Amino acid sequence: MAFMSASDNKTILISGGAGFIGSAFVMHMLSSHPNLRIINVDALTYAGNLENLQSLEQEDRHVFVHAKIQDTELMHSLCEQYDVEGMINIAAESHVDRSIHDASPFIDTNVQGTLSLLTVARNLKLKKYVQVSTDEVYGSLELNSQGVFTEETPLAPNSPYSASKASADMFVRAFHHTHDVPTVITRCSNNYGPRQFPEKLIPLMILNAMESKPLPVYGDGMNVRDWIHVQDHCNAIWLAYEHGKPGEVYNIGSDNEWSNLHIVHSILALLGKSTDLIHFVQDRPGHDKRYAIDASKAKRELHWKPNISFEQGLRETIQWYQEHPEWCEHILNGQYRDYYSKQYQRER
Ligand SMILES: NC(=O)c1ccc[n+]([C@@H]2O[C@H](COP(=O)([O-])OP(=O)(O)OC[C@H]3O[C@@H](n4cnc5c(N)ncnc54)[C@H](O)[C@@H]3O)[C@@H](O)[C@H]2O)c1
Repeated sequence: MAFMSASDNKTILISGGAGFIGSAFVMHMLSSHPNLRIINVDALTYAGNLENLQSLEQEDRHVFVHAKIQDTELMHSLCEQYDVEGMINIAAESHVDRSIHDASPFIDTNVQGTLSLLTVARNLKLKKYVQVSTDEVYGSLELNSQGVFTEETPLAPNSPYSASKASADMFVRAFHHTHDVPTVITRCSNNYGPRQFPEKLIPLMILNAMESKPLPVYGDGMNVRDWIHVQDHCNAIWLAYEHGKPGEVYNIGSDNEWSNLHIVHSILALLGKSTDLIHFVQDRPGHDKRYAIDASKAKRELHWKPNISFEQGLRETIQWYQEHPEWCEHILNGQYRDYYSKQYQRER
């Protein structure tokens, strides 16, 4: 279907659309918004997987561009070429453990990349700029406390990853304040769902359990996270783009706190595997104890609410991994990295 230029049609640029959240966002938005075109910029790092976007190969309203968001000149010309209305920055280096090992790629993509996109949004006077951030910028809450993160909670990042995301948020804030860029920041809790790279807790545990391999759990497994289905997060991102007030921050979360150990037990139970597979390993340095999100502002002002219960979402997520052995195999043996050169010839 050719993209038509009627007045209600619009084109947005998103970054990181071959990753976990980005690919869910692109697929969901294109199927639910027939007049939307998405320019999807992704550098295809180890976390970018074009097999995630396989279903869009014939979709004219999806334009994939293999590039880094730090390439300001290219981002500028893409926005001009496709008459881009606004941007949603989802791209990031996203894994805490990798940031502990080497923080520099996190500064490069998460800070420098954000600055690059903000510069383009400013120069072209784009209608909206959404920064997809994380609750990890708020630091850690005490276990067994009643505390929650609100948008007023001071930023106190503890890992190099969250420090880079907090730095990016500060640039977003400054570009709104100084240059009047219509920015919105979303800060979401931990996501789960199909197509998540298996270095993160839930897919790692599912894939290991499916193969009856040991399930490595950090420390005593009592660290608590607030889990949200990726689809619910994607809906919130779009509402923030459409209705978020420039300069504002919106927390996104599902009131769904569980310890890591509880998550692992649930996965083993759903797969009918023994808890003997659990293997406690040395804790991550500086491991945040607990995250919990107060999302009442997003519910009130964006009219957003989560729709997927954890019980249903976790069951369906496990089912998705069971029904996609090829996706899992290509991730595990590294073949997903060949997909671009073999099958996807839409690079500029
Ligand atoms: N996964 C979560 O639980 C979670 C929770 C809250 C917020 N977030 C935020 O959501 C965003 C997406 O997270 P995710 O889990 O989908 O990450 P991911 O690691 O699965 O995907 C990141 C994507 O960004 C791309 N990318 C990396 N560097 C790039 C660059 N320089 N230029 C262009 N593309 C680049 C990668 O190739 C990949 O496709 C991140 O900003 C993260 O901070 C994630």
